[in-house]
Order: sequence, then C-alpha cells, then structure tokens
Amino acid sequence: MRSYPVVGLLPTFARDPVNTLVRLAQEQGGVAVLPLGRRRIYLVTSPAGVQHVLKDHAGNFIKGRTMDVARPLLGESLVAAEGETWRRLRRLVQPAFSRHYVMNMVDVIADTVTSFFPQWDALAESKKPINLVDMMMEVTLSIIARIMFSVDIVEEEERLLSAFDRAMNALNRIAWSPWPRLSSLYVRALPGFRRAKATLDEVVYHIIRSRRANGTERKDLLAILMGARDAETGTSLSDREVRDQVMTVFLAGHETTALALSWGWYLLGTHPETYRRLQEEVDDVLGGKTVTRDRIGALRYTRMVVDETLRLYPTVWVTARDTVEDDVVDGVPIPGGARVVISPYVTHRDPHLWPAPEAFDPERFREGVPEHLPLFGYYPFSGGPRKCLGYLLAPLEMTIILALMAQRYHITLVPGYPVRPRPVLTLRPHPGVFVWLDRRH
Ligand code: HEM
Repeated sequence: MRSYPVVGLLPTFARDPVNTLVRLAQEQGGVAVLPLGRRRIYLVTSPAGVQHVLKDHAGNFIKGRTMDVARPLLGESLVAAEGETWRRLRRLVQPAFSRHYVMNMVDVIADTVTSFFPQWDALAESKKPINLVDMMMEVTLSIIARIMFSVDIVEEEERLLSAFDRAMNALNRIAWSPWPRLSSLYVRALPGFRRAKATLDEVVYHIIRSRRANGTERKDLLAILMGARDAETGTSLSDREVRDQVMTVFLAGHETTALALSWGWYLLGTHPETYRRLQEEVDDVLGGKTVTRDRIGALRYTRMVVDETLRLYPTVWVTARDTVEDDVVDGVPIPGGARVVISPYVTHRDPHLWPAPEAFDPERFREGVPEHLPLFGYYPFSGGPRKCLGYLLAPLEMTIILALMAQRYHITLVPGYPVRPRPVLTLRPHPGVFVWLDRRH
C-alpha cells in the first residue's frame, strides 16, 4: 500500500478507510501499525489482541481522548465517561437493558412498527423509489423514544432526524483529526452544528421537564435516571446529567440499528433465495398475526439473517482506545499514550476465522455464533466491561422489524444504485438503499 513521507497512509486512508484497514491487516497481521501523520496508531484485529484490549487488560486501554469527538453533542455521557463516574452511570442504567426488561418490550416494539404501516402503505401505493435508510431511521427513533422515555415523537421526528444527521456530519469531520481537542472546539463553534444541537436539546429538555412536571407510573429508563440518588450525598442527577444520558441513548439506540437494518435489506435484496426463505419463515411462524414474545423465538432464520448482517456490516465498524502504560498486545509491544483502533469489520472478514468471508450466508449462525470461533472472532457489540448496552435489544428489534416488514411488503432494490460502505462514525450504505415497496396479498 502506498505510504507517503510525513503523512504516511493518511491520503490512502482518507480515500478509502474501510479497505485500507482490511488491507493493512492482511499485510501486517492482527496487530498492525497505521501511520497517520505524526501519530502511530495500532490496528488490533486478531481475536487474542482484541480480547487483551477490550477485556483482559481493559484498565490499560481507556476511552481517554478518543471520545473528544462525541463530547460536543453527548457531553459527559455514559459512552464517554471513565472510572467511577462511568461505573455509577452503567450500574444505574443497566437494569433497563436486562433480558427480562428487553423481552417485555417486544409488544411495544411490534406496535410501534405497525403504527408506521399507513405511512408505508402510502409509499407503496405511490410506486416511487424510497430510500430505506430514512424509513429505518424513523422507525428506530420512534421505538427508542417509546421504550426508553415513553414518549411519542411522531410530530418532532423529521426535525429530530435532520438535526441528528447534521450534528453527526459535523462530528464526522473531526473523527480522525490528529488534534481532537482543537477540532472539538472548532465543531462546537460551527453555526450548523450549534443549530442542530439546539434543536436536539430543545426536544430532550422538553421530555425531561414534562416528566418532572407530570410524572408517570412507568418504570422506563427516564424514570430510572430521574429517580437516581447518590448513595453518599443523596442528591439526584441534574437536568444536564440526565440530558447527556438521554441524548446518548437516543443517538446510540437508533442510528446503529437503522443502518444495520438497511444493510440487512440490501443483502436480502441482492440474495433472493435467502429473502424467499425468510419470507417463508415469517409466513409460517406468524400466520398473518403480529410478532409477540411467544412467537419471536421461532423466527430462527430471521435472527440468523440479523447475525450474518452484523458480521458483514457491523455498523460500529471501529472503536478506539488510548493506552495508559506500555503493553504487549498479541506479541507486539505498544507504548503508553498510543492510540489503538479495533475493527470488527476487519476481524469479521478474516478468512482464517470465516471461510469465504465476503459471502452472505446466514447458515453460519444456525447454531448461534459458531462454537469453534475464539471469543473475539465475532463482536459487533464490542465486549468486556464497555460492551454495548443494547446488545440484547438491537438484534431483537431488528428481528421484529424485518419480520413485520417482510410479512406485509415485498421489497425490491431499484437497479442502478450500487451500494458501498461509507464510513462516517458509523458504517452507512452509500448513497442509500433505494427500493420499491409492494403490498403483499
Ligand atoms: C446494531 C445496533 C448496535 C450496534 C452495532 C452497537 C454497537 C456498539 C459498540 C461496538 C459499542 C462499544 C463502543 C466502544 O467500545 O467504544 C457500543 C456501546 C454502547 N451502545 Fe451500542 N450498538 C447498537 C445498538 C445500541 C442500542 C439499541 C442502544 C441503546 C438503546 C445502544 C447503547 C449503547 C451504549 C449506551 C453504549 C456505551 C456503553 C458503555 O460505554 O458502557 N447501542 N455499541
């Protein structure tokens, strides 16, 4: 791969980040050096190396400065916090993501999807091409608002999505900046970013204040956050602290899932035999009825499609850590203060772990994650103490949405739009997933 003096691989990386990382790992192995400008960055993708960084020696690999990119929007959020602050927040919100709690959400998720049918029926009747990414963003945002904060955001939906999109685009501009703190200040000052953030703040603070004023019997995430008391001081979280967590869950809870669903539909659209099998399963299991807690376990093949989609397109395609002290990762010495980048996208394409890695084959997951695989051979939701909180919720939600859509519509890709991964902070299908929707009879 072409490396330049001073800037190293920066130009190659800027042109095509995803394939640069894949090729770097092919050339150098599971712990590779990624020379981007003056910084030496290490790309860790071998399962042993990833396990070392994320789990076994997690204390030596902190989020540190890597999260400067998220702070302008998310503040002191759970995803960015460290040490005791993080432990307290995580302990607090964890119950809202437990298996028991998540399984109780099936009906609300299914209901929310169904509430979109009139709108989607109209799109089907219009016979116009539709960008599925937009549809998936709308439905996942509505779901997260209902299950976590018990609010209906139909009226604000468009405004919110557009604001998230603009804010994310601004943050993306600084994602790989060699001067994160400076870039963070720069983004905060951008008028476009400030306007987008003001819109998001307005909605989130409105949700918090209405709850303070009106209360509710519901035991949702918002109630947990607002009812929390510090064990020593007895004080509750300030509006600002609640806002940071609500914003985090709003963002983390809709975008990644919507993009993964869009990739799922793209893969189904390009693999008609798999699509036919999924449709058959949905018809057999649901028999014209909706998805319920009792029926969801029987949607085995649909779930296999979800798992295989997240192998090929793990929408959080990279995460980063800063090393505290010198360490040795899978045999390679890494100095303290270095940046480590981890990429499930690259690991999931390692032919030693996944034969014919580019092939879309849900059968790989017939018995769940293949047994022969090392612990970090498949990790779309990361692992160790900072594992994604939505790791149970997201695949469940995806299974419900895919099944209900496949039951009601036939979805065909519009030809002439070759889709490729565009890595912003998350992995987007570019230019979109354009489809025709047809009502099934
Ligand atoms: C397909 C969908 C999703 C994917 C691929 C995904 C992936 C990830 C990954 C890889 C991380 C770890 C990042 C790191 O270590 O730097 C993470 C963290 C997190 N995710 Fe997800 N996620 C998804 C859906 C969700 C959902 C639905 C929620 C909540 C409703 C959520 C909430 C979070 C939170 C709060 C964290 C931070 C956890 C912590 O630092 O303690 N995610 N996610």
